[in-house]
Amino acid sequence: MISEEVIQKIKDLNDIVDIVSEKVKLKKAGHNYIGLCPFHNEKTPSFSVSQDKQIYKCFGCGESGNVITFIMKTKNLPFVEAVNFLAEKVNISVELNQGNDKKNYEQNNKLYKINVEAARYFFNNLNQDRKAKQYFLSRKITEATMRSFGLGYAKDDWNNLLHYMKNKGYTELDLINAGLIIQKNNTFYDRFRNRVIFPVFDYRGRVIGFGGRVLDDSKPKYLNSPETAVFKKGINLYGLNFSLKNNIDRFFIIVEGYMDCITLHQYGIKNAVASLGTALTKNQAKLLKRYADKIIISYDADSAGQTATLRGLKILKEVGFEVSIIKIPDGKDPDEFVKKNGREAFIELIKNALPVVDYRLNKAFEEVNLKDNESIIRYIRNVSEIIEELDPVEKDVYIKRISEKTGTSEQAIYDLLSEKVQKSGNQIQTMNKMDGYGQNLYVESAYIKSERALLKIMAQNRNMCEYIMARLKCEDLIIDSHKKIYNNIISVIEDQVANSENILKKIEIMCNEKESYSEWIKVISEDIIFSDGNEKKLIDDFIFNIKKFNLEESKKEIMKKIKILGEKGLFEETLELIKQSEELQNKLNNL
Ligand code: CTP
Ligand code: MN
Repeated sequence: MISEEVIQKIKDLNDIVDIVSEKVKLKKAGHNYIGLCPFHNEKTPSFSVSQDKQIYKCFGCGESGNVITFIMKTKNLPFVEAVNFLAEKVNISVELNQGNDKKNYEQNNKLYKINVEAARYFFNNLNQDRKAKQYFLSRKITEATMRSFGLGYAKDDWNNLLHYMKNKGYTELDLINAGLIIQKNNTFYDRFRNRVIFPVFDYRGRVIGFGGRVLDDSKPKYLNSPETAVFKKGINLYGLNFSLKNNIDRFFIIVEGYMDCITLHQYGIKNAVASLGTALTKNQAKLLKRYADKIIISYDADSAGQTATLRGLKILKEVGFEVSIIKIPDGKDPDEFVKKNGREAFIELIKNALPVVDYRLNKAFEEVNLKDNESIIRYIRNVSEIIEELDPVEKDVYIKRISEKTGTSEQAIYDLLSEKVQKSGNQIQTMNKMDGYGQNLYVESAYIKSERALLKIMAQNRNMCEYIMARLKCEDLIIDSHKKIYNNIISVIEDQVANSENILKKIEIMCNEKESYSEWIKVISEDIIFSDGNEKKLIDDFIFNIKKFNLEESKKEIMKKIKILGEKGLFEETLELIKQSEELQNKLNNL
C-alpha cells in the first residue's frame, strides 16, 4: 500500500492541467479549462478541467476524477502503476515497502503534532511577555492578526520549550527532528530564544516550521527552522493557506518577508504571499499556478531584492504567468508603505503595476540623458537585451515605443538586434540551412573560425599561448562564450604543470554551461594546418581577422550614428564622429 501522504505529494506536484494537456488540447474558459472529452466521441468540447480543485469532469458523458484516475483511465493502468507513473514524472520515489512507508507517515504526523504544540506554546507566551506583545503592537500588528497568524514568542531562556515539550511526552530526538532544539556535545538547548515567532504553514494550513525574529536590531535578524521531513525549502509559500481562502481574482502578490505578508493581510489585501527572502523555485511557481494566472511582484527596491526578482521572473514566465511589478516609492517595503499610506494607496500601486518588460525598459530609461547621444546609444544597447527575448509582435510594439522615445529609427534598432544575434553565434546553427541546390549557403565568418583556432592553439601550446595573450586580449574576442573559454584556458594553464591531455580535460570541466561547452567542442575540433615555422604567421593572420572585424564593426556603428544625426539635421554633431570614423579607417589600413 502506498501511504496517503505520498499520494498527496504526488497529486500536489502533478498539476492536473499539465497532465491532461498531454492528451487533450485544453483552452482556458473562465476559471477552468475545456477541451474535447477523451472518454467519449464529441465534436464540441464538454470536458472541463478545474485547476483550483485539481479535478476533471465531462458534462457529456459524466466521467470525472483526479490526476490519478485520469492516468488510470487514459493509460489503462491499475492504481499503483498510475501512481508510480506520476511519481516518476516528479522524481518522487514510491516506497512500496509498507513498513517503511507507514513509519514515515507516522513520523511526519508526529512532526506536525510537535509543531502545533510548539506553536501554541509560543502563542501563549505572547500574553505572558509584555515586551514581545509590545513589539508586535509597536509595529501596528493587531491582536486579531496575532491570533490568526498564530504569532508567538520564544522566551529568553535556554531550555524553556525543551522542558515544556518533554513534559508533554516528546523526547530530545523528536525535538531535534522537528528542528526545535539543538544538540551540542551532550547538552540540548532551544533553537529559538528571545525571538518573536512566526509559525510557517503549508498551503493546507499545517504548521511545518518557524521563523524567529529578534526584537531589536541585533543579528541575525531572522532564524528559521532547518529543513526537516516536513519543512522543505522551495516548495511552500508563506501565507498561501490564508490567501487561498480569499483569492477570488485569481492573482497573487508576492512579497519578500513575513511582516510584509502579514501586514498586507491585516490591511485587507488578502492575496499576498511571501517567498521569505529566497529566490522562487519552479515548484513554488507551479503550486501558485493552480490558483492564479497573474502575479504581481512587490519586492524591496534594494539590489538583493532586484536580483531575486529577476531570477524569479523567468521561472514565473516559464510556467505561464502574466507577471507585473510594483515599484514602491522611496524604496520602502510593502509593510512600511501600507502602514504609512493605507490600503487604498497600495491598491492604487497594484492598479499601476507594470508588466515586466515595461518595468525593465522604464528602469533603463531613467538613466538616459536625451541630450547625450552616447547615452541614448547605450540605452538602446541595454534594452536590446530585453527585447531580444520577446516574440515578434511584442518586439514590434516595444521597438516602436523605444524609437519614439529616443528619436532613433526603428530600422536602426532592428539592425542592432540582428547584429547581436549574429555576434552571439547563436544563429550559426539556424543559418546553416541548405538552399534549393543543396549548397550550404552560410559560410562561417573568418573571425569566428579565427577565434576558435586561436583558442585551440592556446590550449595546446604553452609558448604560443603566451604569444597570443600578448597580442589579443580577452575583450578583443567577439563571441561571448569564447571570452569565457579564453579565461578558462589561462586559469588552467597558469596553475597547471601537468601534461596537455590533463589541461584539455580541466578546461572542458570549466566550460560548465551549455553555450561555452558547445563552443569548446567546436574549438577542439577546429583543423589547424601548421607547416614548420609558420605558426606565428598563422596566428598573426587569425588575430588580424578578429581585429579587422572589430574595427569594421565599430566603424559601421559610427556611420550609423552619423546617418541618424544627419537625418535629424544635426550636422555639427556629426563632425566628431566623422573624425572617429577616419581614425578607425586609418587603423584598418595599418593593420
Ligand atoms: N530573512 C531570513 N534571514 C535573515 C534575513 C531575512 O530568513 N537574516 C528572510 C525572512 O523570511 C524575511 C525575509 O527574508 O521575512 C525578508 O527580509 P527583510 O526584508 O529583511 O525582513 P522583513 O520581513 O521586512 O522584516 P522586518 O520588517 O521585521 O525587518
Ligand atoms: Mn520589512
